[in-house]
Amino acid sequence: MTVTDSAPPGLGTGGGLVEEEAHRFRVHRSTMTSPEIHALELKRVFAHSWLYVGHESEVRNPGDYVRRPVGGRPVFMVRSVKSGVVRVFHNTCTHRGAVVCRKDAGNAKVFQCFYHAWSFDTEGRLVGVPGREAYGEELDLDALGLRPVVRTASYRGFVFASFDPDIVELDDYLAGAKEYLDLAADGLGDAEIISGTNQYAIDANWKLLVENSIDGYHAAPTHDTYFKYLVALGTDLRSGVDGIGRSLGNGHAVIDYHAPWGRPVAKWEPMFGDAAREEIDRIRAELVETYGEERAMRMAETNRNLFIYPNLIINDIMAVTVRTFMPRSASSMEVTAWELAPRDEMPQLRQRRLDSFLTFLGPGGFATPDDIEALESCQQGFRSGGVEWSDISRGMAREPRADDEEQMRSFWRRWNTQMTSSDGAGR
Ligand code: FES
Repeated sequence: MTVTDSAPPGLGTGGGLVEEEAHRFRVHRSTMTSPEIHALELKRVFAHSWLYVGHESEVRNPGDYVRRPVGGRPVFMVRSVKSGVVRVFHNTCTHRGAVVCRKDAGNAKVFQCFYHAWSFDTEGRLVGVPGREAYGEELDLDALGLRPVVRTASYRGFVFASFDPDIVELDDYLAGAKEYLDLAADGLGDAEIISGTNQYAIDANWKLLVENSIDGYHAAPTHDTYFKYLVALGTDLRSGVDGIGRSLGNGHAVIDYHAPWGRPVAKWEPMFGDAAREEIDRIRAELVETYGEERAMRMAETNRNLFIYPNLIINDIMAVTVRTFMPRSASSMEVTAWELAPRDEMPQLRQRRLDSFLTFLGPGGFATPDDIEALESCQQGFRSGGVEWSDISRGMAREPRADDEEQMRSFWRRWNTQMTSSDGAGR
């Protein structure tokens, strides 16, 4: 099948790949395996969404920069030395194409392309061209600055970019997800991304990780070892997990739930140690004073797995992780995760937070290897054939709970709209 901007057969042609009727929601498994659909996703989903770039704390000082792929394209984010504004540039030299920013992070006043040494300042302006006289007076240096990604905006420190000049404002795009970003940001106060990342690859379609990240009922069977570990450390799991699953608009979704484990902000449990108890109580009292009893208790007591369409997860649980992922093909993806924490955090709490990041959420921890195994198992199962559809109907017959699948249906509805819309963008 030739890849074009048009939807492949089966997408939006009556008998679509996402089907919904009373109490029945199903997704055709070719959405997880087809190279044509993967190619179309790059053009429709990733070229017409707001995509997470990084957190402003990663470029706290003038000249600080980080480079990373966004939507599969090399870009870098830098705080201007002159204005302090955070900008996101396409990481390609305007001369003949080489990648200009070649380190993952650092501080610079000038970025010099290694190929022929054209130089750009942190505003993106071309400020140095070796052999300038060879071009005569007609060379317009202003026209040869680095190209900013066409749309860049931030919300509560989270920086997003879009390659679609006509996309809605970030504020409108985030819709109901803002409430949950606010809860995470307010709970942490002056927050920073802790230096270092988790990076790993999974041999599975990226949408399986979307589903998994907001799947509230796989935990008990899939992560049994971790729960036994918590019990061994003194956590009382008898109260279980209880909460809701919500669609937040524009494909975003959340599971919002009470769980037995502690939270550095601000729910003490024995594994934090007695020394941290006073500090957690202090944080909790401060939250109540600043935000009132009800909102403070929400921050302290409830956990939230927030999905921001199409590929950002913020897990505000026993630690706050920021995780983004990008398909490499229809059957593989790359994942990057960071840990977000209060800057002035007590060392014991920071240690516990980092332990949680590693022991549960990290690629060598108790949860992530289980999830990777589950996702790769699904991908292998798809190859078996014989079953065309996956069922995502759980909870359609009741008010959706955290252990239902409404939050996944929310993603799939938006995905289907983008993939089948006549304008190619899902506006
Ligand atoms: Fe960058 Fe030539 S490609 S200076």
